[in-house]
Amino acid sequence: MDSAHALTENHIRAALQSARRETTSGTDWESFEARFDTEFPRLQSLFHRIYGPDADTELLQVVLDAAASWQERPEDLKTLDASRAMAPDWFSSNRMLGGVCYVDLYAGNLAGLRERIPYFRELGLTYLHLMPLFLAPAENSDGGYAVSSYRDVDPTLGTMDELADLARELRGNGIALVVDFIFNHTSNEHEWARGAVAGDPEYSDFYWIYPDRQMPDAYERTVREIFPDDHPGSFVQLDDGRWIWATFHSFQWDLNYRNPRVFRAMAGEMLYLANQGVDVVRMDAVAFIWKQLGTTCESLPEAHLLLQAFNAVCRLAAPSLLFKSEAIVHPDEVVQYIDPGECQLSYNPLQMALIWNSLATREVSLLAQALERRHAIPDGTTWVNYVRSHDDIGWTFSDEDAAEFGINGHDHRRFLNAFFVNRFPDSFARGVPFQDNPRTGDCRISGTTASLAGLEAAQQTGEETDAAVARILLAHSIILSTGGIPLLYLGDEVGQLNDYGYLEDPAKADDSRWVGRPGYPADRYATRQDPGTEAGAIFTRLRQLIDVRKRTPEFAGGRLVPFTTHNAHVLGYQRPGLLDGEESTVVVLANFAETPQHIGAETLSGLPETALELLTGEPTHLRTGLTLEPHGVRWLRV
Ligand code: GLC
Ligand code: GLC
Repeated sequence: MDSAHALTENHIRAALQSARRETTSGTDWESFEARFDTEFPRLQSLFHRIYGPDADTELLQVVLDAAASWQERPEDLKTLDASRAMAPDWFSSNRMLGGVCYVDLYAGNLAGLRERIPYFRELGLTYLHLMPLFLAPAENSDGGYAVSSYRDVDPTLGTMDELADLARELRGNGIALVVDFIFNHTSNEHEWARGAVAGDPEYSDFYWIYPDRQMPDAYERTVREIFPDDHPGSFVQLDDGRWIWATFHSFQWDLNYRNPRVFRAMAGEMLYLANQGVDVVRMDAVAFIWKQLGTTCESLPEAHLLLQAFNAVCRLAAPSLLFKSEAIVHPDEVVQYIDPGECQLSYNPLQMALIWNSLATREVSLLAQALERRHAIPDGTTWVNYVRSHDDIGWTFSDEDAAEFGINGHDHRRFLNAFFVNRFPDSFARGVPFQDNPRTGDCRISGTTASLAGLEAAQQTGEETDAAVARILLAHSIILSTGGIPLLYLGDEVGQLNDYGYLEDPAKADDSRWVGRPGYPADRYATRQDPGTEAGAIFTRLRQLIDVRKRTPEFAGGRLVPFTTHNAHVLGYQRPGLLDGEESTVVVLANFAETPQHIGAETLSGLPETALELLTGEPTHLRTGLTLEPHGVRWLRV
């Protein structure tokens, strides 16, 4: 340790001591100091790498803020911190099940959401992601992703106190609360944004503002367009003629993390949320937080350093808070965010996209390859596996991976886009294009699981809905069994269909993602227990998959070993684990074809003669091979 470094650390230690409040009990303070000993060197080294040693005064403030936040942290959360420290892999359990919903669309407001807790228990949720619920511009707020204050709940939904109460009540019901930390940008109505527009120098430095097009043009030479339907490029013009960075909508202004004060300010907002009882923060749009001229300004090394620095701050002041990374990017980049010291959880966009790819092609090569090659992630981290989210589906597979099967990535994406928006003969899917960019050929897909899987088409043509229902269950069976937290988009478990009503709302009409965000499907929920109804056929069988998963300890953690089925339509993998302390393996087989598929005796010859089929509870004989019905799934304990 060089002397300048030691001096600063001592200085900060002294400042901390004098900031210590009389009221803080000795043990509480000691635990903070113990964490300071391990985390401060890491935080300081990250800070120096990002900002250089000159930013140490800002670093001191960050640490003082963290200490103050720890002192304000409610006792029940400190108890939770301590108990999670004893069971740090709690989120890798096979009992985990996630759900996501918009508070307003699903339950009206926070009070309404509380009333849904009995249903969440019935479903088996242990993790609930509430879509952004903060103060936001009234007209259009990108579904809440334009935040005007991180400390205020949107008054139409409730108050921050209600959110804290809800967090407590959910926790009492075994459900962890997940909310977004939208830290790449604020809305144009945030007080920092208003200050910047008014020319306040303090807040002008919070954003990327330029007097003319020179720098914007320079950046845009290498930066991808994210929402080209909204505005071309990455900048929008202010009323006074200046240009401001806005990666997403024109009212979402990117924060300037080259300014250490932005880091400090946002670390404060994060800890504030943590102290409301949030268990996991979904780190929104992580790829975009650092900009560097001449680069794509996505997933730059500093983006990781910043996330690690936020992580270190959290270890100091809210030690049990977890980060979930939202990096919907190339799979090589997705994994770079996943680390116990960075984001412990991550969306698994590759698995999501390839489930849909396999449903379209009835072929499993890319999905099997992804499970073999791209599924393993570090200890202490886990995937969040999902069939679809509130966002569009982008075809983020690697072209190099696809080329190994003779698949041309560009052409194949065109096929998938055509297939999922029903521009391909006999497609079952009823998706809607999102950000169709004729200039680049880029396009993504919006829609609910049921509409994408064929339920809407079957209703239109009056065909049987069996195949669509089977596709929905098949897709969910994969996210329930590959390892990680399965995340349901609530309403999909009763087969909710696309909602075209957004086209009538001028604030939503330009953003097709709203087609996949229908209101609470009350009619469908009402019939969920009746397997004779469409909703019930999906719900009762999905519930069964969920129940079996929760009883199957081999599904804990993420270990997965490929199983070659020698059948292009049938996906196979093994989940080795422990059952009552003994080694045990579950073999998963999943048929993506509309026709029965056989797995030959020879392929199964390495397995015991009989296996227990967990979904039926019946023994299955494997010596003569195995025939899977259309879209059939087997979970075989061998
Ligand atoms: C994330 C959200 C998306 C939003 C964007 C900008 O990608 O999932 O809905 O539009 O960030 O905040
Ligand atoms: C994310 C993704 C992008 C996605 C957007 C919103 O930031 O990177 O692909 O389309 O958010 O939908």
